[in-house]
Amino acid sequence: MENFVFNTPTKVIFGKGAENQVGALIKAQNCKKVLLHYGSGSAKRSGLLDRITASLQAQGIDFVELGGVVPNPRLSLVYEGVALCKKEGVDFILAVGGGSVIDSAKAIGYGVASGGDVWDFYNFKREATACLPVASVLTIAAAGSEMSDASVITNEDGWIKRGYSNELSRPVFAIMNPELTMTLPAYQTASGCVDIMMHTMERYFNKSDNMELTDGISEVILRTVKKNVAILMQEPENYNARAEVMWAGSLSHNGLTECGTDGGDWATHKLEHELGGLFDIAHGAGLAAIWSSWARYVYRERPQRFAQFAVNVMGIAPGGDTDKTALAGIAAMEDFYHSIDMPTRVSEMGITLTDAQIEEMAEKCYTSAQGPLGVVKPLEKADMIAIYSAAR
Ligand code: NZQ
Ligand code: ZN
Repeated sequence: MENFVFNTPTKVIFGKGAENQVGALIKAQNCKKVLLHYGSGSAKRSGLLDRITASLQAQGIDFVELGGVVPNPRLSLVYEGVALCKKEGVDFILAVGGGSVIDSAKAIGYGVASGGDVWDFYNFKREATACLPVASVLTIAAAGSEMSDASVITNEDGWIKRGYSNELSRPVFAIMNPELTMTLPAYQTASGCVDIMMHTMERYFNKSDNMELTDGISEVILRTVKKNVAILMQEPENYNARAEVMWAGSLSHNGLTECGTDGGDWATHKLEHELGGLFDIAHGAGLAAIWSSWARYVYRERPQRFAQFAVNVMGIAPGGDTDKTALAGIAAMEDFYHSIDMPTRVSEMGITLTDAQIEEMAEKCYTSAQGPLGVVKPLEKADMIAIYSAAR
């Protein structure tokens, strides 16, 4: 087992009506002014934003608003947010939405507190020295940003999508009411669940050994999400199923499922980020479109691990030939993705990848990874091209 640090400072307030506590929770932070940051419409339409502002006003909390965050959140809005916060003297950011809004909030937090050009952190130029405190009211179970140290921003200049991880950005608190996710379109629910599973799978497919407890936690998370997303495709308002996937989303990405490992592979994520940057697709759907091509390309490096996944997560019968079991698990995952209307090839999202686009994504991905990508089989640029081509 590898040494590890497990740092989860985020206070979680989970359950029905949890968002009504937001005013009191922020009041306890003793901040001067709050930036209320949100997306492109769903929080307004559902009435959630009105309830949040009422809760802030009831506590006498001063705030300014900045909406308009889009999926694959843009750097230009981050710059706008930094300027607004500086002008208004904001010292706390409340994100109401999903991973895109929370990530935009974290980037604004770095920009205000660390100074200089915030893109520097995503462009490997320097490390952030501070971040404004960020908290969230989560409206979609997916990215896990509500407890993670990561944020992913898209620079429209070149459509470069990059992640940056720093402990400074772990949110202060996360309000999670599963009921708030009931207004999600089925496609977003499914895409979010793919992302949740992938956050555990990226860590599960690693090069470490001897981590029975972490493996067990990971396998339970994967089976739980798989079972409950199937329920949600039939019953979108099933509270318990919403609650199971929402909590799984946080546990998948708060570090729990990497304790004792080398941190995992993450190649599928990095390959998807290039796809998301270029084609503006839903992140989880993009992951589903790439994963099995990656898995078939690399499984021979760790056939036993892929076979364990096949048996313990996908329900393949144990005891057979290891390679065949591993491949059966990958095929079963593809069937599962199709069963929740997720793609297993890029073309299933209506995108026809050209050779030039594959070359561009591989080039950007190699630059972004700063060298070979992943640990199961470190990928050179030619490997990335082969995987993108198989995923066409
Ligand atoms: O903008 P609105 O109108 O709110 O619409 C959103 C958006 O279109 C909608 N939505 C959210 N909650 C809703 C709702 N619609 C109806 N009812 C609700 N309750 O859903 C759409 C997707 O929202 P988004 O925030 O983009 O989803 P998600 O949480 O999947 O975030 C995706 C982003 O997070 C990044 C991804 O790359 C992508 O940019 N990631 C962030 C990570 C992190 N910070 O740790 C890790 C992940 O691997 C991921 O890369
Ligand atoms: Zn993800």
